[in-house]
This record gives sequence, C-alpha cells and structure tokens, in this order.
Amino acid sequence: MRGPAFLFALPLVFGLAAPGAVLAHTPAGARNGMVVSASDLASAVGRDILRRGGNAVDAAVAVGFALAVTHPAAGNIGGGGFMLLRMADGKTAAIDYREVAPARATRGMYLDAGGEPVPDLSSRGPLAAGVPGTVAGLVLALERYGTMDLRAVLRPAIALARQGVPVSYSMSRSMTGTSRADMAADFRAFPSTAKVFLRDGRPLAPGDTLRQPDLARTLERIADGGADAFYRGPIADLIDRAMRRDGGLITKEDLAAYRPVVREPLVGAYRGYTLYTMPPPSSGGIILLGLLHVLEPDSIAAMGHNSSTFIHRFAEACNRLYADRAFFMGDPDFVRVPVAGLTSQAYAARIRAAIDPERHMPSAELTHGDSLWLARAAALREETHETTHFSVVDRWGNAVANTYTLNWSYGSRYVVDGAGFLLNDEMDDFSTKPGVPNLYGLVGGEANAIQPRKRMLSSMTPTIVTRDGKLALVVGSPGGSRIITSVCQVILNAIDHGMNVQDAVVAPRVHSQWLPDVLFLEPLGIPRDVAAALAAKGHTLDQTGFWSEVHAIQVDAPSGLLLGAIDPRSGTSAVAGY
Ligand code: DON
Repeated sequence: MRGPAFLFALPLVFGLAAPGAVLAHTPAGARNGMVVSASDLASAVGRDILRRGGNAVDAAVAVGFALAVTHPAAGNIGGGGFMLLRMADGKTAAIDYREVAPARATRGMYLDAGGEPVPDLSSRGPLAAGVPGTVAGLVLALERYGTMDLRAVLRPAIALARQGVPVSYSMSRSMTGTSRADMAADFRAFPSTAKVFLRDGRPLAPGDTLRQPDLARTLERIADGGADAFYRGPIADLIDRAMRRDGGLITKEDLAAYRPVVREPLVGAYRGYTLYTMPPPSSGGIILLGLLHVLEPDSIAAMGHNSSTFIHRFAEACNRLYADRAFFMGDPDFVRVPVAGLTSQAYAARIRAAIDPERHMPSAELTHGDSLWLARAAALREETHETTHFSVVDRWGNAVANTYTLNWSYGSRYVVDGAGFLLNDEMDDFSTKPGVPNLYGLVGGEANAIQPRKRMLSSMTPTIVTRDGKLALVVGSPGGSRIITSVCQVILNAIDHGMNVQDAVVAPRVHSQWLPDVLFLEPLGIPRDVAAALAAKGHTLDQTGFWSEVHAIQVDAPSGLLLGAIDPRSGTSAVAGY
C-alpha cells in the first residue's frame, strides 16, 4: 500500500545507472520502517508493530502469522521456512525452521510396487506433509531477537482470521487453479479443506470474505500456550487425529521432537558488498554465491542488461551449479555438503574456464543427467506464487529476510480438521527417486533421499546485503528452483546496473537449472534478436511464463531512506512504511 500519509515520491533514479539499464519505476520510500510482503493487510500489520515501537523481528513474526490468514496459498503455520536476520549491532543468524520427514517416512514411500513414483502422492494429501516448523521458528525468533510478547504479535492475525479478509482477484485465481490441475477439485477432495475455501462447492470469488474461525482458535491457542500448544498440546492432538484418520504419517512424537535450528548464515563478498544468505538445507546461498563468484571478474554492466552475452554466461554458470545441487546438496545434519569448496573462488574459476562464450554446453554432457525430466517439464512453464517472502527493516537498522512455504500452492491442499490450517507438501522437495524430477523439475540423488527426521533440500534464498557494515539490501522470493536466479538477478541489477530496487525487481528475468536443458526467458522485455542470439549459441528457449515474487528493501546510501519494491507479477504484493 502506498498511502500518501506515510510514503512520498522520490526522484526516479537513485544510483549510478549503467547505460541501457534505466527502467525508471519509483520505489516506495519511508524513513522509519518498512515491510514488503505478499499482502497489503499483512504488510500493514508489520508496519503497525514497527510504529508501536516493535523491532523488525517483532514485525516479521506478526507478518508471518498474518500471512497465514491473508495469503493462504503460501503463508502458513503448517509449513516451514528460513528467517535470516541481521541486527543493528551486526549480529546475524539464519533460523532454519524447515519441515522434517516424519519418523515413519521411508526412502521409497512415494513409489509403486514397480519402483515408479505414484503421481501426486508426494504433493497432495496428508502423506505429502513434512512435520511443520513455522510455529517453532517464529516463536524462537521472537524469543531470541524480538521485544514483544507472543500474544501481542498474534493479535492482528487472530482478528483477521475471525473477522475475515476480502478475497482478492489474485486469491480467487489461485483457488480456481489457473496454474496446475483444478485447485477447486483438490479442495473438494478434502471436506476439511472444502469447508474453508469453498462456498456451496465453489471457490470464493473476488469480493467474498474469507473467514477462518478454526484458524482463529488455533492462533489463540498458540497465543495462550506458545509453541507447545502446537507441538504438544491441543493442536498436536488435532494433527495426530487427522493423520490417523486420513493416512498421514505425522505423529505426536514427531511434533514433540521438532526443533528449529539456528545456523550461521553463509557469508560472501561481491564487488565490495557483503552478502549474508541461507546455508543448507537450502541450496540457495551456495548457488547464489557461486554465481556471483563466477560473474565477478567480468564487467556485467558493460555486457549490458539482459544482453545475450550476459544471459549466456549466466545460464552456463547456473547449469553447472544446479548440477552440483543435484549431487551434493541435502540436509547438512545428515550428509556432508562441501559448502566451502562449492563457494570457493578456485571452484568459480574452474567454472569460468569451462564456459565457452559462444556455445551452450548441453546438460547431458555436463553430467550423466537422467532425461526423465521431460515428464514434468510442462509444470515449469507455469506462473507460480506458492512460497512467500517478506522483508522488514526497522528504524534502528535491524533487518529480517524471511521466506517460508507450504511448497505447492495451498501445500498438500489438506486442512487439519478443526484446526483450520493447511499442511505443506514439502516431502516433494526430497528426491523421491534418483533422477526423477520434482514439481520444479529439480532432480536429486542420495544426498537428498528421504530419511526419517531429515530436512528436504530447499531453494529458498533469503539474503541481506551490506556495504561497509551498513545495510544495503534485504531480498528474497518464492519461485521454487527459480528463487535463486531471481534473487541473484535482483542483486546484479542493483549492484552492477545501479538500478533502484523497484527497477531491479521489475526487470525481466531469465532462468536455467541444468535439467531440463532449457533456458527460460520472461516473454516481455527480452528482445527477439537477443533470443535469436541465444538460440544460435545452442540454447533451447522457453519464453512462455513469468515467475517469482521478489520482495526487497534497499537502503538509499546517501539519505538513509528505506526504499521498498513490490513485484507487479503477483498482483498482491504491498509495501507499508512510515
Ligand atoms: O523449498 C523450496 O525450495 C520449495 N518448497 C519452494 C517452493 C516455492 O517457492 C513455490 N513457489 N513458487
């Protein structure tokens, strides 16, 4: 929301814009605090907490709970995610509240008797759900880094659930299943879900009100009993009962055993900036730093924004790092991920040396990749907004980058009866069978095989960038495998092309991920001759979709103003500042 009461117009160009890189969209500006999220109501909740003297963590936790109400496709208490924080004193932390596999999960649990994946088994219904981490993660963040009590940060979410929220055009589209299958049919398959999201058997329409009394009660229970209410108390009982009845694996023991982990962020350097980003079990930070290291010796600005020279180099680097993702990366508590090696300058130099500036290296020649990816290539073309990221900065300079998810839109589409919230389908982020792609076309192997209580590999990449010890950029996105490349391009746009944050977010994106061996280009803004030049280098192109929903805040260096950007691709993202 950009109300004139607290936001003001700013000059169009903030940084040193490189030739050919000026788009000139105006970000929102504020002096004291800013929240960017996927919902105007949730951003306003965070802004109000900041205004009342809460810090960025208080606001982030309130936004996290509010999005579970206002943005049910992705906001959640039945999923998991990562919160990256940098406090004003320079302390940083990466709170890993990723879901874990239930204790009874087995490596082959989504395969039929012939060893083939059963369609949808890892992505729909209660069996697709990992043990949720969101409540534990948000409560831990508040206890360690916040200043307000849980009840106070939950109050707005409870009110929104009880009073109801208006159904937006974007929400109603997500419920009619524009992207994959028929969402309404999925809702109908589970009476507990139909009760929340259907009215007379039909999805809610724009202008309707989404009321969630069961969710309000669940949030009240958390306000009264803390995370224990969810993991040991009445909510755990409801989850346990639903799982037994409907064939899920999550038990009360799984819930009681769930622990978020506070990890050290990955730290990297790029052109004088310092980046704090997400370590495993996300692949995001490793690939982001790897990409930047490969690109740094070149003048990206001189190549020209989205020139064929740049896109080719970027895609070739992506393919190699995503191939590494498939082989090396998984839950660091279960497998040794060679983080230092993969993010080293020496390794980046090897990748650079291997890139032919004129020829695309077919993915099949990069490794022994399995071509089964074709089966799900179609899903990759779709517009997806099913994870969600929010960025928060307060007046003291504390910053939070939080990405959390149910995985696919509305997760498993399975609402816990009586508790009113959706469970995730995060189990699909495991490699259910080596070489078989998941919903995002990603393949994996041993490192990301299913094991009891293991975290599934993620691509979520909440990232905070500083310069000379001062906050410069807070950024993150949904988009499955495309999260990492989206975040990387926004950072390059800001640092190399001198774009203001709104231009950096709007600018057309490209993506490549080893398998499928396809270079994805957003259809608007990549000129036909650039596409032709890329095809001539040997790339197979797909120019059919838009993706990701980057929510970023930039600190304008000379003035110290906070500049926030919405991502117009989503139709709902909203800045609230004061
Ligand atoms: O953790 C991951 O990488 C995925 N579960 C994220 C899913 C996602 O971004 C969906 N949104 N488009």
